Amino acid sequence: MKHQIAILDFGSQYTHLIARRIRQLGVLAKIFMPDDNLSEIGEVKGIILSGGPQTVGDESSVKYNQEIFGLDIPVLGLCYGQQLIAHHFGGEVMPGKTSEYSLANMSVINQSPLLTGLINKEKVWMSHTDSVVKVPADFSILGKTDTCPVVAMANEKEKIYGLQFHPEVTHTEHGMKIIENFVLDICGCEQNWSMEQYWQELQENVKKQVGDNNVFLLVSGGVDSTVCFALLEKILGKERVFGLHIDNGFMRLNESEWVKKALAKAGFDDLTVIDATADFLAAAKDVTDPEKKREIIGRTFLEVKNKVMTQRDMKADDWMLAQGTIYPDTIESGATKHADKIKTHHNRVQEVLDLMKMNKLVEPLAELYKDEVREIGRQLDLPAELLERHPFPGPGLAIRTLCSPNAEKVGDENKLEEKIRAAIDSKYQASVLPVKSVGVQGDNRTYHHPVALQGVLDWSALHDLSVEITNNFKEVNRAVYLVGPEDIDLDDIKSSEGYLDKARLDLLRRADDIVMEGVQVAGIYQDIWQFPVVLAPLGLEGGEAIILRPIESQEAMTVNFYQMEEEILRGLTKKLLAVPGIDLVFYDITNKPPGTVEWE
Ligand code: XMP
Repeated sequence: MKHQIAILDFGSQYTHLIARRIRQLGVLAKIFMPDDNLSEIGEVKGIILSGGPQTVGDESSVKYNQEIFGLDIPVLGLCYGQQLIAHHFGGEVMPGKTSEYSLANMSVINQSPLLTGLINKEKVWMSHTDSVVKVPADFSILGKTDTCPVVAMANEKEKIYGLQFHPEVTHTEHGMKIIENFVLDICGCEQNWSMEQYWQELQENVKKQVGDNNVFLLVSGGVDSTVCFALLEKILGKERVFGLHIDNGFMRLNESEWVKKALAKAGFDDLTVIDATADFLAAAKDVTDPEKKREIIGRTFLEVKNKVMTQRDMKADDWMLAQGTIYPDTIESGATKHADKIKTHHNRVQEVLDLMKMNKLVEPLAELYKDEVREIGRQLDLPAELLERHPFPGPGLAIRTLCSPNAEKVGDENKLEEKIRAAIDSKYQASVLPVKSVGVQGDNRTYHHPVALQGVLDWSALHDLSVEITNNFKEVNRAVYLVGPEDIDLDDIKSSEGYLDKARLDLLRRADDIVMEGVQVAGIYQDIWQFPVVLAPLGLEGGEAIILRPIESQEAMTVNFYQMEEEILRGLTKKLLAVPGIDLVFYDITNKPPGTVEWE
């Protein structure tokens, strides 16, 4: 199957998502590096320039092949891509004073084939700091917002277009329509790609790649590894696939037992289960840094796997490692050339990359997103109880247990807290919390302090406050709302020392179980895409805090925080505060970007 659209990857977190959206239209798009030769890119009907974490015109900015603008085919630049087009043709790009990571209302001021079918006020998703302030000659402005003068621009004669926002993320209400306008109408692509065809190609590719090897697969029991297990057994036969479930001590309450039973019920009676809690706890004993934690856990998975292979006399030469890696695991681990590393997913540690180089790694789902993996699972007749589970990360509760070597202090050089308090609605109290979490802002990784807010539970007001604070204060990447106890003084919250030990993990397991049961009973489990419950070493009387992070999403690349019914939330909070050792309950009110789903 030949690709009809080339996407040049300037390092956006969403580059692959653009390709995915175009596939949804039945058109194959392929990703290239910006400096690739035209001969590598091949004959295509259109080119898309992705976003990226850099600033155009900077010495260090990514070099691109300027010949793409002489090909006489349509070009669409997204975010950084639009800024690059403006810069290339003599327009002006300015670094913004503040960053914008939120929905914006675009006013359409000029009609264009790119915007056919759109209304005059469009909800679009922005994630940027720099902006085009003057379009080049022969370009017209198609859309603007109150804060951004050039949200969409075009040179209709040459069919060169730019959008400051991201049409590829689901938050942009008519993003898919814009992509369709570009790919089908402006570029004139044929709709000749299908999922069935992809599924056929996938089976052939796996057979070819695996050859005579057997495959060793780590099965957590989550959607991706379970689908991968089913798929490999279908393609290669049960006897060539060894599935191992490792209880790493970071699983949910009684989860390993559940996984074994549920998989057996679905016909996978050949899953081996071992308890390696001691290995993992020993390896991560003194670690507080999230990236180190992730690396150590990823490595320990492989050490345990190697131990099992030795015990069972399995010869390394005869076996490949299979993983249920999906695309977000790859992009967030900074695997494409210009992308920033947001976090190292457990299946992307150096040892795994080494296996990849030796062609000893097979990852049949690595191109796909969670909803596509679920679709393949349905084609394989896997039961809903396995396919509809919330996603759960490989490092499990380890990356939901925040650790701290000592009581941390917030650096208040610039009196951040006072500035925030002065800037926001005085109905809310605000405090910068002395812990940190990972975020993604304008395609870059951040590791910053969250702000805690206290006041009335009004989701709409809290949403706007969260966006206001994270857009205006670069030192903050997340906001949380104090659900209970309601009558405390935020200034009384203190951080304490805390590591990855069994007692803290057990406390989190108990809290997580209360929450999971609560959302099942309330009938909202399926409305929530994923629900991390986080333990933070923050308390009043030497106890800890629980942070609830339910989200809505389609593929975890962009996320809205879930707005829970107050009665359900109050009920959960009451139960959580009744657990000895839990002093505080917060609710994460951050979208992604600027926060990631997981805190670490
Ligand atoms: P973030 O936190 O980066 O998460 O917004 C996006 C999605 O990826 C999951 N996640 C992981 N999954 N291994 C995994 O298998 C990992 O190391 C890992 N880290 C994050 C996360 O739960 C969310 O669904």
